Amino acid sequence: MSGIAIRARGLTKDYRTGFWRRRVRVLHDLNLEVQAGEVFGFLGPNGAGKTTTLKLLTGLIHPTGGSATVLGEPAGSVGVKARIGFLPESPSFYDYLTGEEYLDYCGALAGLPRTVRRDGAGALLERVGLSGQGDLQLRKYSKGMLQRIGLAQALINEPEVIFLDEPMSGLDPIGRKEVRDLILHLRKQGRTVFFSTHIIPDVEVVCDRVGIILAGRLAAVGRVEELLGSPLEQIEVTASNLPPETAAALAARGVAPPVRSGDRILVAVKGEEDLGHVLRAILQAGGRVHSVVPHRRTLEEVFLARVREGSR
Ligand SMILES: Nc1ncnc2c1ncn2[C@@H]1O[C@H](COP(=O)(O)OP(=O)(O)O)[C@@H](O)[C@H]1O
Ligand SMILES: [Mg+2]
Repeated sequence: MSGIAIRARGLTKDYRTGFWRRRVRVLHDLNLEVQAGEVFGFLGPNGAGKTTTLKLLTGLIHPTGGSATVLGEPAGSVGVKARIGFLPESPSFYDYLTGEEYLDYCGALAGLPRTVRRDGAGALLERVGLSGQGDLQLRKYSKGMLQRIGLAQALINEPEVIFLDEPMSGLDPIGRKEVRDLILHLRKQGRTVFFSTHIIPDVEVVCDRVGIILAGRLAAVGRVEELLGSPLEQIEVTASNLPPETAAALAARGVAPPVRSGDRILVAVKGEEDLGHVLRAILQAGGRVHSVVPHRRTLEEVFLARVREGSR
């Protein structure tokens, strides 16, 4: 599969809230393209507009302005609904049903024939780590198990595009890893995954690209490495045994005032040229190099920087 799987053009949503039915804009002019086969992470704090965006892209609600297409068709059209899967934020379950009955019910809603439903249920349960639990009633499922059966439901029609709203929320570290592995497996199968989260490490490992949404606006979008900057952006050199004049010369090359602790000095430099210069100067002066550590920004730093910019 190639081409654009998800496209939002000027997507805007107002809600009317409170007694006076005041209009509040919760999504502002979202422009976004997700390539087929991509895993796209939609990162933002609570209330940023992630769920609203997912509901617009799956056609559960209608935009105030702009438009969205999925697999080339208007979001929410009947043709496209058969080709997508959706895990809502807090899926509500019919808790008197067993896991298998629930999947059968969802399969029937998706229009799958009975034999396909029956034959597929076991494999689906296995895929989400629930094998052997299919005959247990959903009210006996833990939060993590409910999240998994919700995932199974989202995959029941072998969707080409899968929307997941906070799929790792409420899961323990093992459960989170399993969901990450499942997402990577879906990518291997060539499917497109669009998932939202407010948990930064979740996007760092699985996503091809990340969008950061803050207060209803897309604040940044790009590959994780692009957002983080090149690892050569800043390199920290620790050295000791330096004559004072060399230490002073190094300080002048550094991007920030050096950090000193006893005889040791830590200088941060930018780029390979400055690094070579600093290392030569240390060695020529008879100093010792203890470490050379490339420093990458973390997604958290990028995220917090955007939050600060936004609040100015
Ligand atoms: N049905 C609704 N009516 C009014 N306001 C809503 C409705 N749904 C969400 N909101 C508001 O829209 C904003 C974005 O919500 P949401 O998309 O759920 O954010 P997120 O999923 O990122 O936490 C929030 O301020 C929320 O209170
Ligand atoms: Mg949400």
